[in-house]
Amino acid sequence: MTAEAQQPVESLFPISLHSLRLDTVLTFELYLKHASGKQVLYRAKDIPFTEEVRSSLIANGVAELYVPRSQRDDYFEYASHEIKAVVADPKMPVVEKAQAVYKVTTSIMEDLFVTPKSSERIRQAKTAIHHTVNFMLENQEATRSLMFLTHHDYYTYTHSVNVTIFSTALAQRVFETETETPDFRLLGEGFLLHDIGKSTIPASIINKPGKLTDAEWALMRTHPEAGRRILKETKTLNEIIEKIVLQHHERMDGKGYPFGLKGDEIEPAARVCAIADVFDAITTVRSYRDPLPTFEALKVMRNDMGNHFDWNYFDQFVVLFRKE
Ligand SMILES: [Fe+2]
Ligand SMILES: [Fe+2]
Repeated sequence: MTAEAQQPVESLFPISLHSLRLDTVLTFELYLKHASGKQVLYRAKDIPFTEEVRSSLIANGVAELYVPRSQRDDYFEYASHEIKAVVADPKMPVVEKAQAVYKVTTSIMEDLFVTPKSSERIRQAKTAIHHTVNFMLENQEATRSLMFLTHHDYYTYTHSVNVTIFSTALAQRVFETETETPDFRLLGEGFLLHDIGKSTIPASIINKPGKLTDAEWALMRTHPEAGRRILKETKTLNEIIEKIVLQHHERMDGKGYPFGLKGDEIEPAARVCAIADVFDAITTVRSYRDPLPTFEALKVMRNDMGNHFDWNYFDQFVVLFRKE
């Protein structure tokens, strides 16, 4: 381990060792966390990341490193592009690839919810999700690895990535046979950004343990339109993203929001997103209730939620969780 320099803990953020590619020059500093909690500078920037360095980190049981927050633009720019090399690496096991892809995408999204007006970050999120979707399209194993490693914490950024994974897996099943196959990468952008409007809602409402008041609920229901506004202002909106962002809370029976659209009036990709969205929400840990296990969640969605979902799509969604 090299030069020791102290950095206050709150100014660093964690990154996965898997997101660093061999023989690339890292344009950001790397810190390590010691068992005592002390964080020390491990590598200065602008030097290559070699096999020797990686092996020594693995030998020391290091899976996570830290980058100064002030250098996060450099890290995200690097990581969003490097996912492509991770996905293409023939020597890397699929599960490791899935972990790297998941970690990078969630950390970009975490930052995006803090800086939703950053068109730069939205662009990086889109790049990351393009590579993620390519990885999923490549083989079944990739899709399953990602589906089964989703974390069910209550953060909106984790939820955004989970919904993208579940929605993309379902979209592949239901749209694959259509005469005009959609651009799954574009759909992926919409799934990933579906809740970006929640960045305008106070965290106290988003994370409130228990029921929302009528006023809080009314505010919460503004997030699809707020999302469209953000994407329009950052010039990152297109037709399909707009439909997913605006319509993911519409219901087949017309009881959804913001417009109360019914059945076919709802964009197919938004119907897909609605299923993944509710599934991820009810399988997620909340302080006031236990998360539902997968099959319990599917049963509740089928039996207790009226005609919320497109049942043809829902049947295909259930198939995704079948054990092989
Ligand atoms: Fe939403
Ligand atoms: Fe959502």
